[in-house]
Order: sequence, then C-alpha cells, then structure tokens
Amino acid sequence: MIVTTGMKPTEEETALAKALAAELGGRFVPRNRQTLSAIRRRHQDDRVLVTGPDGLRLHADDGGLPLRYHPGMGLVRARRLRDGGTDPLVEISGARPGDSVLDCTAGLAGDAFVFAWTVGPSGRVVALESEAVLYVIVREGLRTYDTGLADLNAALRRIELIRTDHLDYLRSLPDDSFDIVYFDPMFRIPVLESSSMLPLRGIANPAPLSPEAVREAMRVARRTVMMKENRESGEFERLGFTRVTAKNPSAVAYGVIHVERP
Ligand SMILES: C[S@@+](CC[C@H](N)C(=O)[O-])C[C@H]1O[C@@H](n2cnc3c(N)ncnc32)[C@H](O)[C@@H]1O
Repeated sequence: MIVTTGMKPTEEETALAKALAAELGGRFVPRNRQTLSAIRRRHQDDRVLVTGPDGLRLHADDGGLPLRYHPGMGLVRARRLRDGGTDPLVEISGARPGDSVLDCTAGLAGDAFVFAWTVGPSGRVVALESEAVLYVIVREGLRTYDTGLADLNAALRRIELIRTDHLDYLRSLPDDSFDIVYFDPMFRIPVLESSSMLPLRGIANPAPLSPEAVREAMRVARRTVMMKENRESGEFERLGFTRVTAKNPSAVAYGVIHVERP
C-alpha cells in the first residue's frame, strides 16, 4: 500500500498521509507532482491511498472509480427518518431512542448511520470493521463528512468505529451488553444493482457469518440479533434467523432472532 497526497498538499494532508502509512504498514511517497500511475509503476504497488481536501481516496489499478467515504443510501434513509418517514432496518430491529446497537459489519457505516440517528444522543452505536484500509477511510469519513445538516453530522460523529474482527470483539463482551446486535456480511449472492457495495468488493472481508458469531451475538444482545442478506440467500436458515420481509420488498431481506432470557 502506497500513501501519498494530492498535487498541492497542505501540511495537515502530508502529516495525515505519513501517519496513515505508518498505521497501515504502508509506504509514504511524497507526491512531487507525479501522476498516480507513475508512482504505482515506480513502487510496484497497485493500491494508492491519497489524502486531500475532500478526504481520502483509494485508487486501485482496476480501472474502477476510486473509493471515497460516502454514507450513500444511509444519508437518504437518515434524511427520510428526520422528515418523519420510516426505514425497514429501524422497524424490524425495533431500535428506539436511547438504545445501544453493535453493528458487527461496519462497511461504509450506512446502516450504522441510520441506527445512530434513531437511537439519538442518549443511545450508542459501536461499529466494527475488520479491514484496515476500509477502517481508516471510514474513520476519516465519519470525522469529516459534511451532510449539510448539523444534526445528521452529529449522528455520524457519534458512531464509534473500532477496527477488529467481530468474533473477537463479541467474545470479549459481557452478557447483555447491547440492546441490538446487527450483521450485514458481504452477501453470498451479490445484489447486482447494488452499486454502493461494488467498490467494497476486493477490499472488504468476504467471509460468511459463522454460527459461533451468531451464538456470541445472542449472548451479548439484550433484545434482538439481526442480519441483512439477499432475499434468495440460504443464510437465514443456516444461521437460525427468522426471515422478515420489508413492507416494500426489495432484493434485500432481514432476519431476526429475538433473545428472550428466562
Ligand atoms: C456489506 S458490508 C456492510 C455495509 C454496511 N452495513 C453499510 O451500510 O455500509 C460488510 C462489511 O463488514 C466487514 N466485515 C466482514 N466480516 C467481518 C468481521 N468478521 N469482523 C468485522 N468486519 C467484518 C467487511 O469488511 C465489510 O466492510
């Protein structure tokens, strides 16, 4: 991994690039007006992370668009909730103000954003991401992305992002630590029209959700364990979730396990 800056970096952008190179075990390369292709060729590395005034950009040598942080549909959905609308994630999970939510698969934190808006300042959203590059892009995005609305920005900033594998993290938690534990693993059968997930393929952790992680989640959740998957997926049955179809059905479905303690 190479980390560099834009063509005319500020001191902060250069310092951030150096710090990220150290954090990611990558190599900091001063930009010196070189093209990214030239930097790639000279250092024989396909991936270049670039700091700039608009945040971080990850360029991979695959001809695709660079990956930048954006809350994507998460922003559209949080706006809809702010305007008094509904969202299937909120309805099916039963999330409400003051709740604590553990999102075990942060990705671009779109769902974490919807939860953060819903649980509000008296609640808590912790989001876990196992992949280092994705983690730093999202961490910087949550810190700096401007939605144009102060209360939505505040919700984004409240998400506590942690770089860890969710099974390790779940194992470290006491029983009944969060109201809701949520999983949105990379789908076994990708939804082809889901452009928001395309840039993640290649850098996201593609592992299927393990039965052990679900068992740990049931121990850690006070109320509900929830999973998002392709509607056609056999993962709901394999992992013991009851499939719930949203009111406006799409290719995506949710599965729930309601945790009841004696
Ligand atoms: C489909 S994306 C989640 C998208 C997210 N819900 C959103 O709205 O932006 C799945 C993410 O979970 C991460 N992931 C997969 N397995 C994980 C694990 N065991 N621990 C932590 N993160 C994991 C992947 O790297 C990927 O970024």
